[in-house]
Amino acid sequence: METTIELNGLNFSYGDIKAVDNVSLNTKKGIYGLLGPNGAGKTTLMKLILGFLKAQSGNGKVLGYGIEENRRELREQVGYMSESDSLIPGMDAVDFTSYLGRLSGMPKQEAIKRAHEVLYYVGLEESRYRKIETYSSGMMQRLKLASSIVHDPVLLFLDEPTSGMDPGSRKEMIELINDISRKGTMSIIISSHILPDIEATCEDVIIMDKGKIIANEKISVIASKEIDIFEIKLGRDTSGFLKKFRKFKYEEGDRGVIRMQLPSDFSTKEIFDAALESGTHIKHFLKRKSTLEDTFMNAIGENGAD
Ligand SMILES: Nc1ncnc2c1ncn2[C@@H]1O[C@H](COP(=O)(O)OP(=O)(O)OP(=O)(O)O)[C@@H](O)[C@H]1O
Ligand SMILES: [Mg+2]
Repeated sequence: METTIELNGLNFSYGDIKAVDNVSLNTKKGIYGLLGPNGAGKTTLMKLILGFLKAQSGNGKVLGYGIEENRRELREQVGYMSESDSLIPGMDAVDFTSYLGRLSGMPKQEAIKRAHEVLYYVGLEESRYRKIETYSSGMMQRLKLASSIVHDPVLLFLDEPTSGMDPGSRKEMIELINDISRKGTMSIIISSHILPDIEATCEDVIIMDKGKIIANEKISVIASKEIDIFEIKLGRDTSGFLKKFRKFKYEEGDRGVIRMQLPSDFSTKEIFDAALESGTHIKHFLKRKSTLEDTFMNAIGENGAD
C-alpha cells in the first residue's frame, strides 16, 4: 500500500510549550482520524506536515516530498481545511474558493468552474455570491471544506471539520466527508477531539496526547480489544476496599462510582466479600464491556500518569 505520510522524530515547541514531542508516524492511503483532547498538538502537527511551521528537529515526507521543501507540486496535491477562519473580507464564496484554487496552481477559468461545483457540492449554491464575512459558522465550515477540495487534492487535511456546527449540520458534514472518502480518490486525515466524529468517518485512528502519539491502529482492532469494566458504588469508607484492588486499574468517576478493570473471569463474589471485609457495602454494581471511549480515556490517562 502507498505511504502518504512518513515522519521521523518531529519536535516543535512554542517557547517553553512542547507542542509536538518526538513524533514518528506512518500513514498509508485511506482515511485516518487524529484524535486527542484540546491542546494535544493536533493542529501543530498538521502545520508541520504541511510545511507552515518548521520542525526544530526530526524530518518527514508527504507524498514523497520532504516536509520542508514546500514544493509547488505538493501544494497542488494537498488540501487543507484549517481550524481557524482564514477569510478575506469583501470576497464572496466563488471569489474565495477560486482564489484558493489558483493558489494551488489551477488556471483561472478552471478554478472558477470548479469553485461553482464544489460550492454546490457542500450545499452553498444559493449563498455563493454572498460576502463571506456574513456567513454563519456552519456555512464557514462548509466553505472551508469546499476550498480545501477545489483542486482535487490527493491528500486532504481537515482540522476539526465539525467545529461550531449544530447537530444537523454536523451530521451533514460527516456525510460529506464520507462521500468524499467513498469516491476513493483522496486520502484524508481528520483531526478532532470528538470520538464519535472519528468513529463515523475513519478506519484508522491516531491518538495524540501532550504532543505524543500514543496509539495508531485500526478502530476495529481497538474496539475488538474489549475489557470488562466493573462499575461499583460503595456505601461508606472506600479506602479499605480500594486497597484490596490496588494492583488493578481503577478510577473514581461521577457521584462516587468507581470504574475498575478486572479480568473477565474475576468472581463477583470476591468483590462483594472484599466490601464486607473492609467494612463497607456495595450500593451499585454493574459489569459491562469497555467502549472505544473507555479505551480513548484510558490511553490518555496512562500518558498522563508518568
Ligand atoms: N501560537 C501559539 N503560541 C503558543 N503556544 C501555542 C500556540 N499554538 C498552540 N500552542 C500550544 O501548543 C499546544 C498544542 O496546541 P495545538 O493547537 O497544536 O493543539 P490541538 O490538539 O490542535 O488543540 P485543539 O483541540 O484545542 O485545537 C497547546 O499547549 C497550545 O496551548
Ligand atoms: Mg487544533
